[in-house]
Amino acid sequence: MFARRMYGVQSSAVRDLLKHAQRPGIVSLAGGIPAPDLFDIEGLHAALEASVREGGTAVFQYGQTEGEPALREAIAELMRGRGVRCSAEEILVTAGSQQGLDLAARVLLDPGSTVVVERPSYLAALQTFALAEARVLSVPSDDEGMNVDALAERLRPGDARAIYVVPDFGNPTGRTLSLARRRQLVDLALRTGTMILEDDPYGALRFDGQRLPSLHALALEAGAPGRVLHLSSFSKILSPGLRLGWMVAPPEVLRQAALAKQAVDLHSCSLSQRLVMTYLASGRLQARMPLLAEAYRERRDALSAALRRHLGDHLQTNRPDGGMFLWGSVARGLDTARLLEIALEEGVIFVPGAAFHADEPETHTLRLSYSTVRPDTAETAAERLARAWRRFEAERPH
Ligand SMILES: Cc1ncc(COP(=O)(O)O)c(C=O)c1O
Repeated sequence: MFARRMYGVQSSAVRDLLKHAQRPGIVSLAGGIPAPDLFDIEGLHAALEASVREGGTAVFQYGQTEGEPALREAIAELMRGRGVRCSAEEILVTAGSQQGLDLAARVLLDPGSTVVVERPSYLAALQTFALAEARVLSVPSDDEGMNVDALAERLRPGDARAIYVVPDFGNPTGRTLSLARRRQLVDLALRTGTMILEDDPYGALRFDGQRLPSLHALALEAGAPGRVLHLSSFSKILSPGLRLGWMVAPPEVLRQAALAKQAVDLHSCSLSQRLVMTYLASGRLQARMPLLAEAYRERRDALSAALRRHLGDHLQTNRPDGGMFLWGSVARGLDTARLLEIALEEGVIFVPGAAFHADEPETHTLRLSYSTVRPDTAETAAERLARAWRRFEAERPH
């Protein structure tokens, strides 16, 4: 009854878990969502009101597929502030970075085309590539991000259509691609004629260390700006419910993506676009970024410390410089999916790492999100996880 492409797609384990997160009393380390208590409700209300008051009928009317010109201009300026040189004509407004990914897949991939991803990788990107009936080539990663040497050994010119990478504070690992590897990756993309899909919803949420140049900027520096398709979003820094993100791409790619978008949704929501335009013009976003970074840093530190206190060496976690996630592991051979079943009974959830692997799942890994966990709740989360851990250990044969 269904199209062949549907058989390769699985429901996101994370979305399924989020149902449990709604249950009263559960502490969720499972979501990848921004903290609702950090939304600028007052500023968003004011922008919404002004949009409706001043926007006339346009906010309720159809709009341009590429996005509202003034918003494209404002996004181009935001990108220039992040060191990505681009003009409004290179911006396509999308329904979140997720739609940017879907459009990129529609434009670049045929059934059977190869797309390179990191292992582990963002789950919904894997879903997008499955729907595109692409072949996924997973490349190992470590604390410096994707292992580009390992990729270089396998990738010959023409082998792959795209390399998908989340260079800053990736989902699920929180890792950042090092500068040396960024240069190496751009170089490899140039040598092999492969497009880079740079997905950057988290880069603005840096709370330690120095911002690294984007792959887009490095490709421009190398004289090949067309090699990188850059995606970003207002979801993590403003509101995911508005469903607004963007693609930065060379004109010929952007034209194709806009064609695909016409078929998908004609254009992104006019009211959301007007709201975000008004909000950006108020200057509140720039003013709030340090506050957001500080709040997430505090949450990272609180959860890391609480896990250390309650679980000690049983659970190893990394210490990302930004974003929303800790990547953890327990001893090899153990299965965090079973640990989750017990943890759910104890009132805390996380995402077992296997979900993020297109192949060779590492079942002893897990993703822990601190974004919605205030410091006092972090203590409760770690206590419950430690209780679950003791039960998990007790049921193992000795
Ligand atoms: C790496 C990555 N890309 C894209 C997205 C999609 O975000 P949105 O469509 O809300 O911009 C997410 C959301 O969790 C993500 O983690």
